[in-house]
Order: sequence, then structure tokens, then C-alpha cells
Amino acid sequence: MGESMRALVAATYGGPEVLRIAEVARPEPGAGEVLVRVAAAGTNPADSVARAGLIRDWFGEGPYVWGWDVSGVVAAVGPGVARFAPGDQVFGMPRFPQPAGGYAEYVRAPAHELAAKPDGMDHTAAAALPLCGLTALQTLDLAGVSPGQRVLVNGAAGGVGHLAVQLAKAHGAHVIGVAQDVNHPFLKTIGADEAVDYTTTRVADAYRDIDVVIDCAGDDGLVATLRRGGVFASVPGAARGPGSLERAAEASGVRVVRHIVLPDGAGLARLAQLVESGSLSVAVSRTLPLEEGAVAHELLDTGHTRGKIVLVVRDEEAGA
Ligand SMILES: NC(=O)c1ccc[n+]([C@@H]2O[C@H](COP(=O)([O-])OP(=O)(O)OC[C@H]3O[C@@H](n4cnc5c(N)ncnc54)[C@H](OP(=O)(O)O)[C@@H]3O)[C@@H](O)[C@H]2O)c1
Repeated sequence: MGESMRALVAATYGGPEVLRIAEVARPEPGAGEVLVRVAAAGTNPADSVARAGLIRDWFGEGPYVWGWDVSGVVAAVGPGVARFAPGDQVFGMPRFPQPAGGYAEYVRAPAHELAAKPDGMDHTAAAALPLCGLTALQTLDLAGVSPGQRVLVNGAAGGVGHLAVQLAKAHGAHVIGVAQDVNHPFLKTIGADEAVDYTTTRVADAYRDIDVVIDCAGDDGLVATLRRGGVFASVPGAARGPGSLERAAEASGVRVVRHIVLPDGAGLARLAQLVESGSLSVAVSRTLPLEEGAVAHELLDTGHTRGKIVLVVRDEEAGA
């Protein structure tokens, strides 16, 4: 083996306890690729779903290094890469939904799937942004959110939801955020016009004539809140084929969007611009060292985290 690195390795599918620190081979960048020295790795429910083996058809044989969201410094570039050079600070979610090996000291990534880290944003925050930010951005684009529309975001305090709220506001929409009462002050700080508690209000009965629902919590019943011609974006249901949701939507004259987020360097650059202009910020509720990835996965598995949980891999500022 050439040079080695630390990574959080899962020898098998299973619970959070399968995530163990191990020494593995350091990857080499191929043509068109960049080797990133990872400073921070964001965690997502997708990491946990993959770890548990719920989408094993998508992956080959283990062992696996999970994790897609990374922020770090370019360590080397492969042949043909002109857009980045060693020392550049970059972020991204390479290869999704194919494995990327983000929970590691180094990751190999196609150059066009990365972007320059936003100025003024540290690696921890930048690692929290790519997968959820691109999901929100691409979903709002597909839904065609436009100024003045009423947009209801379900799961508004979560990773995708809190970014969808801010991006919908940046599109000029009136935004209703659905979350537990304890998260309502947070929803106000990120610009939601209204906040509603799904534990005390039947949201499907409380709203009508909504233009777009961005559902991040899996409640197909919210189709009832839409006007004819409205759009229902099912973020958790993206990988499922058409079914009862489409039948309910057809009866109500509603369009359904099912979209699995795609790596997109240009989209990341748009997110970076919004961060730099002050229109978008990412909420990191917890940071943990890479070694404690299993703790991050236990928290993800509760389904009630606010904002994002990030694994700190290396202190770039201190050069540790
Ligand atoms: N299509 C794609 O490509 C794509 C991309 C990213 C994520 N996803 C999926 O989309 C979902 C959301 O992802 P995420 O990263 O935002 O997850 P997350 O950070 O865990 O957020 C989920 C949020 O849902 C809320 N919630 C839980 N139960 C709820 C209920 N019954 N009604 C309303 N809200 C409820 C929670 O808030 P409270 O604490 O207020 O309950 C939590 O903040 C996950 O299933 C994920 O796998 C899909």
C-alpha cells in the first residue's frame, strides 16, 4: 500500500456501531479529479440510510466509507484539471449517490463537482451545506418557485428544510415553515413568515391554496393544502416510483416532483454567492470529531435534529 489515511470504515451494514476508525489507502486523483484534504465532513440522513443497508442495491461489496459532504483544501490535482490548484479551499458532495468516502482524511472528487468554499465561511459550516443546499436549490428550481408564491416547507428546521426556507425567501416567496414549537424561534431567525406546529395543528386541514409544498418529512397528505396547478415536491420520497401520491395529486390537479439531488459545481457556486451576500446561512447544531461518527449517526437516527451535524476531520487553521 502507498500512503495511508484515517477513515471511518463500516466493515458491514448495520447500526451506528459499525462505524470504526481504521487506516486505509489514501486515494490518488485520476484524470479530471482533485484530491481534497478533508477538514470537515457533513452528515446526512442518506449516510445513515446507506450505513443501515436500506439502499444496498445501489452499492457494491463493502467495506464502506460513507459520507458525501466535505470541505477542505486541494492537496493534488489529476491530469487535465485547470479550475483548481493545490492549496485552494473547496467544498462539495462528490459522486452522490455513488459512494464518495467523505468520512476520511482525503477524498477524490471530480473537479466539476466541487466549488470554491464561500469566503468568510469556515470548513465546518461549508461541509454542512452541499447535499442539503443542492437538494433545496434543485428542488425549488424544479418546482419553479417564483416571487409572491406561498411556499409551505414541511420539516423546516431540518437540514434541507432550513435551507429551503431561506432559498424560497431569496426567490421572493411567502414561506410557511412546519416544525415543532421548540423550533419556531429558529424558523423566525431564518426568515420564515409563518411557523406552524405539526404536533398541535393538522396542517393538511389548516392551509389551502398553497402554490408549492416542499415536503422534507414524508407527509403526502399535504397535497390537500395545494391549489390546482400547485406543485408537491417529495424530498424523502424522491427514489420511490409513482404511487398513491401521484393518484392523489392527479385528482387535485397538482404536479409531483421526485428528484434525487445531483452533484453540481455550478449549483454550489450559486449557494456560495448567496452565503457571501448574506441571503443564506447554514445552522450547525453539533460538531464531533471524526472518531465519534457513530454518535452523529445515533442523533441522525432520531429524525429530530435541528440544522446539521458535522464531523471535524482536521483543524486547517491550526494545521493539526
Ligand atoms: N431527494 C433527495 O435527494 C434528498 C436529499 C436530502 C435529503 N433527503 C431526505 O429528505 C428527508 C429530510 O432530510 P434532512 O436532511 O432535512 O433531514 P433532517 O435534518 O433529519 O430533518 C428532518 C426534519 O423533519 C422534522 N420532522 C420529523 N418528523 C416530522 C413530522 N411528522 N412532521 C413534520 N416534520 C417532522 C424534524 O423536525 P422537528 O424536530 O421539528 O420534528 C427534522 O428537523 C430525509 O428523509 C432525507 O433522507 C432526500
